[in-house]
Amino acid sequence: MALWGGRFKDQADDSMRALSRSVHFDWRLAPYEIEVNLVHLESLIGIGVLSKSDGAILKKGLNDLAKKIGEGSFSYNETDEDVHSAIERGLISECGALGGSIRAGRSRNDLVVTDFKLYLIDHLLEIASLLEDLIEALNSQGLNHLKTIAPGFTHTQHAQPISFAQELSKHSFSLARDIDRILDWQKRNSLSPFGAGALAGSSLQPAPEQSAKQMGFNGVHKNSIDAVSDRDFAAEALFIMAMIGVHLSRIGEEFVLWSSTEFNFVEIADAFSTGSSIMPQKKNADAAELARGKSGRFIGNLTTLLVVLKALPFAYNRDLQEDKEPVFDSVDQLLMLLPAVTGMVQSAKFIPNNISSGASAGFTLATEVADYLAKKGVPFAEAHEVAGKCVQYCESNGLQLDQIPEEALLKLHPQLGRDLYQLLNVEAAVDSRKSTMGTSPKSVELAIRDLNKEVEMYAEAISRIRAVFSGMISQ
Ligand code: ARG
Repeated sequence: MALWGGRFKDQADDSMRALSRSVHFDWRLAPYEIEVNLVHLESLIGIGVLSKSDGAILKKGLNDLAKKIGEGSFSYNETDEDVHSAIERGLISECGALGGSIRAGRSRNDLVVTDFKLYLIDHLLEIASLLEDLIEALNSQGLNHLKTIAPGFTHTQHAQPISFAQELSKHSFSLARDIDRILDWQKRNSLSPFGAGALAGSSLQPAPEQSAKQMGFNGVHKNSIDAVSDRDFAAEALFIMAMIGVHLSRIGEEFVLWSSTEFNFVEIADAFSTGSSIMPQKKNADAAELARGKSGRFIGNLTTLLVVLKALPFAYNRDLQEDKEPVFDSVDQLLMLLPAVTGMVQSAKFIPNNISSGASAGFTLATEVADYLAKKGVPFAEAHEVAGKCVQYCESNGLQLDQIPEEALLKLHPQLGRDLYQLLNVEAAVDSRKSTMGTSPKSVELAIRDLNKEVEMYAEAISRIRAVFSGMISQ
């Protein structure tokens, strides 16, 4: 049923109808729409636009409709333009013409943005919980590998030895920032746009503050034109999701590399791998590759919405209907991707011998030589130069740094003494980096345990927000 048409002589052309239609993708807003309608209903009864008895009929109608939608016995049909028209059709079929009264004092313009905000609160919180799971998987794998020494890379070249737990848990810190961004998003986007009507508020004066409170929002927008025009919350959500996508792509890239025959740092479980249709021996790290590959669409979705919003006139313009699909896509993709990446990490078998075997290759201990001299008061530039000469000496003589004879050391620099040898092993190098952020197993363990506590606090914050929005979002 169309929500408009009184002033039209002719029917919409089929092509126009097809272009205009959004119900096939905005139908997922139906549960939020029902809840917003229930709150709105109370406000209409409160101001006397609806009698208590009519209100009771409508309330029952909305609840019955919600049940039918849940059971799948009511859905949109070919004639519905969008979720709003489908819900109104449903309400009219439940309550007769009275069903049309719910439209008083509101417009699709404030309704759609309210539904959409509630949808995003709900789904970003779900994504935050999935991020917690992934952090937990990375951290618990990390705690099992505190003493596994790995080559640390810069420029994908061996740089310095590190604890492999630090390599794994570095991802946890970026994912924790993503959760923090979601909570921060929630704080900033906690004003209700409902009550803005088409753009100017409503002369029926429903009670926006009251409705906002009932829904769980912190207050209402102070400008009704801003309220119906604001899609910052959607753009910010898309940025957050794009950032998560980028983080997942970096995890993916690492697992692809680590599971290659050349590295062989990790065996990815069969459950998170795929085979080849022609090469029977192949086991490909497709979960990791898809984590890497999907970052493109997350970034694309953010770009899509920003371009829709650029220079858009204020208040509602139909362009704004283009705001939802990119968001739905990013949400759907993350809800699919995050559990797969978590499963891949949880079930991954790291191979300590292979991880450690190259930790000192490529003269990763050269910095130890330079630091040793610097500690003896040699200017670092000179110390660096001498350490470089030690590497050169090793390369020309086919030696490792700890194999340079004592006399040769003295010739390279008079302050290079025999006490240097005890520093030239990867364990000592890793152990010596004891600062809070350093790579010593103790530091890494403390950092992981602190992060786990932080994540617990995030989990509590997420449950608090869910409780505030209870009834409006899924629990
Ligand atoms: N389907 C529309 C959207 O998603 C709903 C709002 C339509 N409002 C209007 N005045 N045409 O944006």
